[in-house]
Amino acid sequence: MPKLIVTKRDGETVELEGKTGLSVMEVIRDNGIDELLALCGGCCSCATCHVHVDPAFANQVVAMSEDENDLLDSSDHRDETSRLSCQLVFTAALDGLKVTIAQED
Ligand code: FES
Repeated sequence: MPKLIVTKRDGETVELEGKTGLSVMEVIRDNGIDELLALCGGCCSCATCHVHVDPAFANQVVAMSEDENDLLDSSDHRDETSRLSCQLVFTAALDGLKVTIAQED
């Protein structure tokens, strides 16, 4: 299975096996990392699944929707690498994708 590499808020980096077809948020949650709250369950309405995507993968993840863009504006920790992980479908092409869980708002 392709790998997803996640850096947690305490700085620890873990390598996860990612089931393709799930969202990056679901891969993280299914691997027991519960600091990514994902309160809305992936409906693009809470922004608690905020991650920073390694710039090397910026062109490989799906484009951002207007709703995602608007929601990310509510975060004090938004930067140019910010994405909502529930909106990123994990595919084999994203093997080795690195994300960092954003600080909590
Ligand atoms: S889980 Fe709520 S916006 Fe992603």
